[in-house]
Amino acid sequence: MPLVSMRQLLDEAAKGGYGVGAFNVNDMEQIQAIMAAAKETKSPVIVQASRGARAFAEDLYLFKLIQAAAELNPDIPIAMHQDHGNSFETCKSAIELGYTSVMMDGSLKTDGKTPSTFEENVEVTRRVVEYAHPRGVTVEGEIGVLGGVEDGHGAGGSGLDHITDPDQAVEFAERTGVDALAIAIGTSHGAYKFTKKPDGSVLKMDVLIAIHKRLPNTHLVMHGSSSVPKDLQDVINQYGGKLKETWGVPVEEIQLGIRNGVRKINVDTDNRLAITGAIRKVFAESPEKFDPRDYLKPAREAMQKVVALRMTQFGQAGHAGDYSPIPITEIAKGYADGSLVTRPLVAAK
Ligand code: 13P
Repeated sequence: MPLVSMRQLLDEAAKGGYGVGAFNVNDMEQIQAIMAAAKETKSPVIVQASRGARAFAEDLYLFKLIQAAAELNPDIPIAMHQDHGNSFETCKSAIELGYTSVMMDGSLKTDGKTPSTFEENVEVTRRVVEYAHPRGVTVEGEIGVLGGVEDGHGAGGSGLDHITDPDQAVEFAERTGVDALAIAIGTSHGAYKFTKKPDGSVLKMDVLIAIHKRLPNTHLVMHGSSSVPKDLQDVINQYGGKLKETWGVPVEEIQLGIRNGVRKINVDTDNRLAITGAIRKVFAESPEKFDPRDYLKPAREAMQKVVALRMTQFGQAGHAGDYSPIPITEIAKGYADGSLVTRPLVAAK
């Protein structure tokens, strides 16, 4: 199956009332883990690469690996997504490579660190939409700023510093025509999101629900959505790691989000934890081993387990065969003739 438009994948998820995990990749083993989990659970899937991942793996290696995944798994719809594009040029280069979706994170300036103004964000995001849609490529924008730093990208600080304002979310969606909207509700990238199990004072599900009420048909995106489960932390620490006690986003809060318009859920850290724990275990228990396959295989299996669990929890499991992919050229026509709506439905306050 060719790579699928993320817009189609999210539209289908909205019809089915489920969410789709977007899992970050840097190498072959992570791609294989995601595909094995998708196959096991019969899930459509979003594979995403940050700028850091593209630099680490080199664009062509990574993209050819995704193409191999699509060729080897003809029954699984896969969207290939640029995570946190920092500029028009980054998004353009992903589109030229063949990515079927890009995130223009205009919430930060091009340095990927300094929060931008609302007008700057609207302008650069709209420019990406104008370039992407005629090519059939999906665009995710971000309004509000996430906490933390991932792969050198992020404003740092707490997730509470720049919570999304629902009125701005409406104006942003109207003025940019994005297909999916990432919002800031108190989450942050990385393992250290919360110092205790989060409640409404730090994880603003009320803001998410308020945005969904105003934009009932807009596909919302939750970033920084690893759950950072204690069992994964424990494996790392048991085998010589030094993680401090920490909490992520509880799965039941993500499921509440899915009932309120969340269609894409970004997960990276949980997989990093699973991989690191598995490798540490082999190193600690079998220090005589030196064949990378001896630790990369368990690492891949550990990641597959986490991804398959999330696919089931997000509800995408079982939906891989629900639809046939619409060719990207047809998606482009849909944007052009208005059958793929980009003007959001806005409900009164
Ligand atoms: P986590 O660090 O919570 O996995 O978030 C990943 C993410 O949002 C990628 O954009």
